[in-house]
Amino acid sequence: MIQRVIHSPIRPFAHSPTPMLTTAPSQGLRGTLALPGDKSMSHRAALFSALAGGESRIANFLDAGVTRRMLAALTALGVSWSLSENQLTVQGRGISGWTAPAGPIDCGNSGTTLRLLAGAIAATGLPAVLDGSPGLRRRPMNRIVLPLQAMGVRLASAGGCAPLTFDAGDLPLSPPDHFLLNVPSAQVKTCLLLAGLSADRPVRILEPGPSRDHSERMLGAQGAVIRTGPAESPDGAAVYEIVMEPPAALTPLRMKLPGDFSSAAFLIVAALITEGSDILLQGVGLNPTRTGLLDALATMGANLAVSPAGEEGGEPTGDIRVRHSRLTGTEVSGPLVVRMIDEFPALAVAAAFAQGPTLVSEAGELRNKESDRIRSLCTQLSAIGVTAEERPDGFRIPGAGLPTGGIVHPAGDHRIAMALAVAGLGAAGPVSVADAEIMDESFPSFVETLQLLGAQVDP
Ligand code: S3P
Repeated sequence: MIQRVIHSPIRPFAHSPTPMLTTAPSQGLRGTLALPGDKSMSHRAALFSALAGGESRIANFLDAGVTRRMLAALTALGVSWSLSENQLTVQGRGISGWTAPAGPIDCGNSGTTLRLLAGAIAATGLPAVLDGSPGLRRRPMNRIVLPLQAMGVRLASAGGCAPLTFDAGDLPLSPPDHFLLNVPSAQVKTCLLLAGLSADRPVRILEPGPSRDHSERMLGAQGAVIRTGPAESPDGAAVYEIVMEPPAALTPLRMKLPGDFSSAAFLIVAALITEGSDILLQGVGLNPTRTGLLDALATMGANLAVSPAGEEGGEPTGDIRVRHSRLTGTEVSGPLVVRMIDEFPALAVAAAFAQGPTLVSEAGELRNKESDRIRSLCTQLSAIGVTAEERPDGFRIPGAGLPTGGIVHPAGDHRIAMALAVAGLGAAGPVSVADAEIMDESFPSFVETLQLLGAQVDP
């Protein structure tokens, strides 16, 4: 039985450097908690509110490094907002109410900020420069630059990467008949839908399979007419189609955001690998385009109980109870990959504690995240005594023994940092995570939350 009840630790975001964080072998994580708001939905709620006419109010907004980048960008574009105890209020000015920024907009390490803003800026026709950290400058941007150019947006990149420079452009934009994406990507899809708000015809996007659909749900709630479903590409391939008719205007949002499933993923794995654990996560977003990790963990023998609890902000939510489990290895490939695209660091840690091999394939997109996640997972797991073999499109973890512990370097990647910190709770010896402040990018209360559950953590 769960013995202690813990209230969601909501710590206002502040850069509080924790250069080295050490997690040590722990026993019995216990507690009931609610998580900070979903990162993907927080980005969208802030940006889409800024494009609407009137005041939007968003509860359980994620106050973290990446969402602060989005909010700072909105300020630079002439939109005012206030954030108090995770309640965000945005004074939307409509698409035509934004003003040109005085200088380059720094998106930091946040690919979502840059790719979503790019679509919104295209819709305004304003001149702007979108830039970011050295890590963000290495990530591929032609996936949005080329389709935006095909719609008539005047923008240039630095060899397919940031900075992206938008010249003042003429509206409306003219999308081609359809956009055919090589890889399912919610960031690319959302960028094109946002640009489509100022288009003279419907935007039609064909993805190899469905990616997370928060934008479709939220824009739909704001008055856009969006149709989705299986379709065929012009050359006969099975695809997933998203079609949006440009709305006359977006209406403001009033919603409470669900807890972030991707943050929950670290706590789920922490409880699974730590003996004697029994935790309950309440109000977690359970959008099926996001919850692939639950399916993968179920095949590993995880003791998980999911109780749906209705909807929050147009998205399914529920409670997840997790108990320590003896895990076995699994295989992940195909459509499951996109449904758990941000959860491979957490999965890899579960695999390191499982009996038997885990094989991940058809997941080459992991090389384009905050770090090359295939490489950083394999090198950093090796540093704590886990055999992990790198493959071009994934990795294999034989799962043959307990991690020993050691020092890891997360390469500026918040999810690698949190996953490795979790590994220390079940390992034979402590795990020390260097440059651990990177966790503040998406889950500033991560350390506090682990401590509240009873984990051995030395910040
Ligand atoms: C996100 C989409 C995913 C995901 C990222 C957030 C979003 O990226 O990895 O963390 O909010 O749309 P891709 O669209 O590049 O797959």
